[in-house]
Amino acid sequence: MRKFVGLGITLLLGALFLGLVGIALAQEKENEFIIFHYWTAGGEKEAIDALFELYQKRNPGVKIVENPVAGGGGETMLAVLMSNLAAGMPPDSFQDHQGNQQKDYIDAGYLEPVDDIWAEANFEARINPMWIKTLRFGGHVYSVPINAHRTNWLWYNKKIFDELGIKPPETYDELLETCKKIKEAKPDISPLALGTREKVWSTYLYDMVLLTTGGPDFYERANTGKIDFRNDPTFRKAMERYAALIPYIYPWHATKSWDEAGALLKTGEAAMYWMGDWVLGYYLSIGMQPEVDFSATAIPKDIWMGHADTFPLPKGAPHPNNARDWIRMCTTPEAQKAFNLIKGSVTIVNDVPPDVYPDPYRQRSANDLRTLRAVCDGFHGGMITPAFGSELMDILTRFLVDQDVDAAIQAIAEAAERTNLAEACSWFWEQ
Ligand code: GAL
Repeated sequence: MRKFVGLGITLLLGALFLGLVGIALAQEKENEFIIFHYWTAGGEKEAIDALFELYQKRNPGVKIVENPVAGGGGETMLAVLMSNLAAGMPPDSFQDHQGNQQKDYIDAGYLEPVDDIWAEANFEARINPMWIKTLRFGGHVYSVPINAHRTNWLWYNKKIFDELGIKPPETYDELLETCKKIKEAKPDISPLALGTREKVWSTYLYDMVLLTTGGPDFYERANTGKIDFRNDPTFRKAMERYAALIPYIYPWHATKSWDEAGALLKTGEAAMYWMGDWVLGYYLSIGMQPEVDFSATAIPKDIWMGHADTFPLPKGAPHPNNARDWIRMCTTPEAQKAFNLIKGSVTIVNDVPPDVYPDPYRQRSANDLRTLRAVCDGFHGGMITPAFGSELMDILTRFLVDQDVDAAIQAIAEAAERTNLAEACSWFWEQ
């Protein structure tokens, strides 16, 4: 009998021990925060590091585990992330956008609402209502946006402009004129920089010609598949305008990433660059002086086009408390300011005043976002779907080579049909 009691006590102690080890292991597990992002270029890397620093101060015991994947635009990271989400191995949060870029994850059941975090932070009242349209689905929000990146910026080498006495273009026609002038005066310089090693950047010029040709309403209809791509005269005109710019684009664009293409303005190999203001973060990080080495002009000047970088909460996040604290932190003016002062974007919350930025571009972006008509850009702003977007970037990279307007229009029309673009984007018009 004593033998059995002894065995019972030993088993009990053993179970207790295993239980304690289990709790310790669980706590150790809880002490990590796993995040996926692709901010690896100059400026963007320092910006996410500033957020990590703040987070570490709030959570000194938590180990931050990053999986940064090089290649701006996220093509590589997204592929890795998708397979992890599908395999039920989500990170605690990841770099995402809005609109269709987020809806696909929600529809697949990968995300958890964070309505309570928005309510606690009174977040909705602190942002431009246009963001709500692309962040709330079925009455729920699933992420917190950390910034507002403007994408209708044309960056230019100020010295080249000053030397040639060129006025910064503010319309498509003026841009084309400027390209011609630069090519004539300096045949060795590419008027327009571009880097399509990640094909997604070809879609930014597409947004520009849609917006400057048809205006914001047409732009939103085209990007949500509500036009007859094959026969719409405005769409044809937009594609002709894209084709007209191609001879002025840096010819080896397929070899460059977005930041390497941006560096062509520093070396003077290119004069202008159509790119979102993450390139401002990059220019500042490589020591270029605003209004000395470079400047920027918005085309068209009366529209703010751009997107947000957001952090969603994956369902089954391995460290949900740490994940939620990250997302909560991103609602604070302190985190928004720390990130955006480096990133090149502006805070999405309107309680950080525009004059905190030391350069005129972000002051202008922050003011314009408060006062102008705002539209989301097509790919990262999630106006188009990832399925259509991935076909579109292939079509446009081919178009950059063959400049065949008819073939591009035909291919875009077919891609929109094949991917059910209009149907997939109907939510945009129902919100
Ligand atoms: C965008 C993102 C920006 C910037 C850029 C280049 O998709 O919104 O934050 O990182 O890619 O990497």
